Amino acid sequence: MKLCIALDNPTLEENLALVDSLRPLGNARSHIWLKVGLRSFIRDGIYGIEALKKYGDYRIFLDLKLYDIPNTMLGALKEMYKIGIDMLTIHTSCGFEAMRAIANLKAGYNDFPLIVGVSALTSFDDLGFEEIYNAKLFSHTLKLSSLAYNAGISGVVCSVEESLAIKRATDKHFLTITPGIRPFNESTDDQKRVATLQDAKIAQSDFIVIGRPIYKAHNPLQVVEQILNETMNE
Ligand code: C5P
Repeated sequence: MKLCIALDNPTLEENLALVDSLRPLGNARSHIWLKVGLRSFIRDGIYGIEALKKYGDYRIFLDLKLYDIPNTMLGALKEMYKIGIDMLTIHTSCGFEAMRAIANLKAGYNDFPLIVGVSALTSFDDLGFEEIYNAKLFSHTLKLSSLAYNAGISGVVCSVEESLAIKRATDKHFLTITPGIRPFNESTDDQKRVATLQDAKIAQSDFIVIGRPIYKAHNPLQVVEQILNETMNE
């Protein structure tokens, strides 16, 4: 299980200071991926990613949750490839045709980033999800995940609650990336489907995504150390 730290700070300097504070972790940093999301990418763009890469050999997860027609998504992905990132997100609700086209594009490269599809945002509960999609959250998440698997993309972003069922419905190697993690039962904030590290382990999550419990902590290094102690042997 790898740790993705969501770098959603209000300034680039704070993101860089957080990453710099992880230096004492030494080789254990190879278990950490840095997640650059909408806030940081809109503000800092490619320059921000280049700046992060100077702090160590981190993998970069670009979380822009793309959702558009196939032609526009393919164009965006070709541009993203040039940035030199390791994983990126699309929305599975962009449909089978778009995901299949993206999987075909990836197949043409040796070093294309992992592409993972958001199933249902972890900020949705059953009611909020049904309001928008007119479908049951759990079964629809499984349906979107199977579609993504059959289209040939690398995995899905889901909650811990769905991770194991998705692997059973697809393949154990189909990646599950799980935000909504509150490692030690911290405040849930706007997340509705939350889970602890222990839950994530049981659910065979491949990547846990953690933002506020780390970047809002008094001592982020200590929190990351505790998380790695619980997850690194996975
Ligand atoms: O601060 P917190 O730990 O809740 O951050 C979770 C991160 O994961 C945020 O950057 C959010 O954009 C992202 N994310 C999510 N739910 C998804 C996909 C991504 O919370 N389904």
